[in-house]
Amino acid sequence: MRIAVLKETASGETRVAASPETVKRFIALGASVAVQAGAGLSAAISDEEYAAAGAEVVGDAAKGADIVLGVQGPDPKALKGANAGAWIVAGLDPFGQRARVDEYAKAGFEALAMEFMPRITRAQSMDILSSQSNLAGYKAVIEAANAYGRAFPMMMTAAGTVSAAKAFVMGVGVAGLQAIATARRLGAQVSATDVRSATKEQIQSLGAKPIFVESVKGIEGEGAGGYATEMSAEYQKAQAELVSSHIAKQDIVITTALIPGRAAPRLISDAQIASMKPGSVIFDLAVAQGGNVEGSKPDETVVKHGVKIIGFSNTPAHLAADASALFARNLYNFLSAFWDKDAGRPVLDEEIGDAIRLTKDGKVVNERLLG
Ligand code: NAI
Repeated sequence: MRIAVLKETASGETRVAASPETVKRFIALGASVAVQAGAGLSAAISDEEYAAAGAEVVGDAAKGADIVLGVQGPDPKALKGANAGAWIVAGLDPFGQRARVDEYAKAGFEALAMEFMPRITRAQSMDILSSQSNLAGYKAVIEAANAYGRAFPMMMTAAGTVSAAKAFVMGVGVAGLQAIATARRLGAQVSATDVRSATKEQIQSLGAKPIFVESVKGIEGEGAGGYATEMSAEYQKAQAELVSSHIAKQDIVITTALIPGRAAPRLISDAQIASMKPGSVIFDLAVAQGGNVEGSKPDETVVKHGVKIIGFSNTPAHLAADASALFARNLYNFLSAFWDKDAGRPVLDEEIGDAIRLTKDGKVVNERLLG
């Protein structure tokens, strides 16, 4: 069983899919690991560290591989030397990169999309969306704090008092919860909103103030599978009014709202930005999915009405070392949980296998892509 770790080739991608720690652990399971030379450099992991962990550091890691690990889906051309039926295990962006999925099928690979991991308790440690969103929520606040020309905490000094920043988090999933916690740690006064009523208690438990639409019913409890759906026009109107009255008093806004399989919901309009104080900062974590904020642009700081609007196309890539370490562990937790000692390789069960498998035996097999 040969596992390959490729160097990422997507623009702006700094992460790597294995760490020296996970290399060691795969070897302990009985696998051999080949790491492409330079694969970890942008995540501060040298070839020597991989070699010391027991990996072969080579030019063409895919050659002879049974399992290829990636952060993003590798270019099918880079997989020429992989064994027939090899597994491709990565964040494959199945909807965005549909043509590439077809190519994996044509080449006979079994492509496993880690972002399709079911959100069930036993798969929590394998969930790349959670591990990466958590870091993204943290980084969004740090970037906003850096762009803000004032301090976050209240400071009483001999020269006068600096008042605490007011931060508002919109969308309280994994990223939003971490954004609340980070802004609180930095000393901001934090409020937050979501469409799912279950998040109210979570917001309060982090010491922040929930700001919720009360006049129209939102999504009861967690929502379907913990996810939001598109809201009614009536709800959207009530939410816009609530946001308008709240946002004008905020210094920092972090937006994280996503709806699976759809463009991100628009939460902040240009008129609402205009109502904010000059010098305020908005970080749009949904910018790569179409953006929650009117006018936000990936990897640019846009200044509108004196308000800075920031967003990265790949936020976890801005924390390459930690993001890689957690991503690598997600992949290891996944493969090791299914490791069959007799077969000397992982054997998936139906629940998880069917959820994440995109291609097999030359065909696209995933319901979410066929339906
Ligand atoms: P997400 O990234 O899909 O969305 C972020 C947040 O935006 C969500 O809380 C969503 O309700 C909110 N949102 C959507 N539309 C909105 C709107 N118009 N206005 C305001 N907020 C809006 O969510 P994420 O972070 O993936 O978490 C989704 C759920 O999955 C959560 O309930 C979380 O607890 C659960 N989860 C479960 C796991 C497991 O059991 N393995 C692992 C990770 C998360």
